[in-house]
Amino acid sequence: MGHTKTYIVGNWKMHGDAASARTLVEAVVVQASKMPASVEVVVCPPATLARDVASQVAGSRVRVGGQDCHDQADGAFTGDVSAAMLKDVGCGYVIIGHSERRSLHKETSELVRKKALRAIKTRLIPIICIGETRDERVAGKAYEVVGGQLWDSIPEETQEADFILAYEPVWAIGSGLTATTDDIRDMHTYILGEAAKKTGLATGSIPVLYGGSVKAAGAREILTTDGVSGVLVGGASLKAEEFCNIVASAAS
Ligand code: PGA
Repeated sequence: MGHTKTYIVGNWKMHGDAASARTLVEAVVVQASKMPASVEVVVCPPATLARDVASQVAGSRVRVGGQDCHDQADGAFTGDVSAAMLKDVGCGYVIIGHSERRSLHKETSELVRKKALRAIKTRLIPIICIGETRDERVAGKAYEVVGGQLWDSIPEETQEADFILAYEPVWAIGSGLTATTDDIRDMHTYILGEAAKKTGLATGSIPVLYGGSVKAAGAREILTTDGVSGVLVGGASLKAEEFCNIVASAAS
């Protein structure tokens, strides 16, 4: 693991209500308290639950993130959530450019970059997602696509510890398929090299998480793969025992 911290991030997507969130977070708080300080546990509930979750985890080892934010500070944007609003309710992180936002909401890398910059200016850490589709991988274009997204999605103004990258091959999300550890190592090495070129930062200072059907069973193998600084977990982050086991697997 190149980076000194290990991030275990749960992306709840559009799931959960106040009661289910409370039970889930209770378990995660207990598990996180058993982990070394180098392990950062983050849960990203829907925006409606962010305040509840933030107050529940106050004083614990668990941090809270949003799942998206607008690129503007505020304004007439019905239905959107600003970075400042997430910050205001206690978030420290925000996922930006998830493939579901890119495909279902037609978000371009240019917009992703603006959102990430807004997050940074608001002192939230954006978790910037990049990843190729199955067709792009089959066509031999995985590196070209991921490299292009990376160059266009990372803001120019970044400094160390400002942002996190997440490599999520779209074909691995929610599909039960994970990339092989060889594929993950090769892509993460490539991402680290390109991100260092783009930002001028040292590769060791840029965390790159892996995401896509991460389960407790394979988590340790992924977390110990070169270039991997953590995991971004979707489906498995909604099950208390499964997610706690993923957190536990980050113990060195
Ligand atoms: P998954 O989702 O773990 O359910 O594949 C990962 C993600 O979309 O962040």
